[in-house]
Amino acid sequence: MMSSQRHVVVADPIDAAAVARLRSGPCVVDDVSADPSRLAEVLPTAWGLVVRSRTKVDAKLFASAPQLKLVARAGVGVDNVDLAAAGAHAVTVVNAPAAATVSVAELSVTFYLLLVRGLLPKVNSTRGGKWERGTSGHELAGRTVGFIGYGRIAREVAQRLVPFGATSVAFDPFVTSTTDGTSIVPLDELLARSDIVSVHAALTPENHHLLNAAAFAKMRRGAFLVNVARGALVDEAALLAALGSGQVAGAALDVFEEEPPMNRALVEHPNVIATPHLGASTHEAQSRAGADVVDEVLRALAGEPLRYPVPTPGGAR
Ligand code: MLT
Repeated sequence: MMSSQRHVVVADPIDAAAVARLRSGPCVVDDVSADPSRLAEVLPTAWGLVVRSRTKVDAKLFASAPQLKLVARAGVGVDNVDLAAAGAHAVTVVNAPAAATVSVAELSVTFYLLLVRGLLPKVNSTRGGKWERGTSGHELAGRTVGFIGYGRIAREVAQRLVPFGATSVAFDPFVTSTTDGTSIVPLDELLARSDIVSVHAALTPENHHLLNAAAFAKMRRGAFLVNVARGALVDEAALLAALGSGQVAGAALDVFEEEPPMNRALVEHPNVIATPHLGASTHEAQSRAGADVVDEVLRALAGEPLRYPVPTPGGAR
């Protein structure tokens, strides 16, 4: 029997409690996250679509979902959603911009400590039976961290640096000043001053490969790079060369241009800490992301104002 209720498709795995709450709402829920091959079959009647980052919500998807009115992204980055196509199809896009802030901030600080202290080689050599107690590593105290992108996450990181005695500078074309002690500086100045360059920007066509060979050449020799944002902000071939020459002493990368990364030379480089895009994957962040997007879907179903609409060029909000 056909239901008159709206059809909401969950395309990617999100928090189970959030899906259960969605199921108790005034909609019919089709959770195809465990079997993405079913997506094509359920899209024609979908009114709402909940995704994380696996599903590419592109023009082709919009064309095969003529009833679609809402895309809810259980996370912050909306680079897997074609916003222009969403606007053209009058589809509203929402995300969960604050859900993972603390988790990604904590991961960033973890990376700084691991890199500056040079801990990973020591863990590996001790595991391999060695006992290397020679002087090594540095303190985070007194270091300068340069944030590329100064949004929610970078600000949260900056707060956590204060008790460590580290200072911060930031480059962000949309931020002109701060009240938290972080100085806003031009990109070249940030590169020249930072002991750790930490990438937190959203990926846009304008900042693709922002960290390229020219940028690495402007960094302090022996500085570190941390990327917890999006892989394509960094030119990986240029990074590999900079690691090879010692211009960049080490890098911690949670994100890659291609995921899973095919660039094994980078992932396996002895001075690289590579993790599988897990910044937002804590239980806490996923529980918040699921709750936030389900709240948005329930608001949309009730015709109530949305909390986290993402602007779509020339389209619906
Ligand atoms: C985000 O944009 O929220 C994360 O980078 C991707 C995710 O884990 O959902």
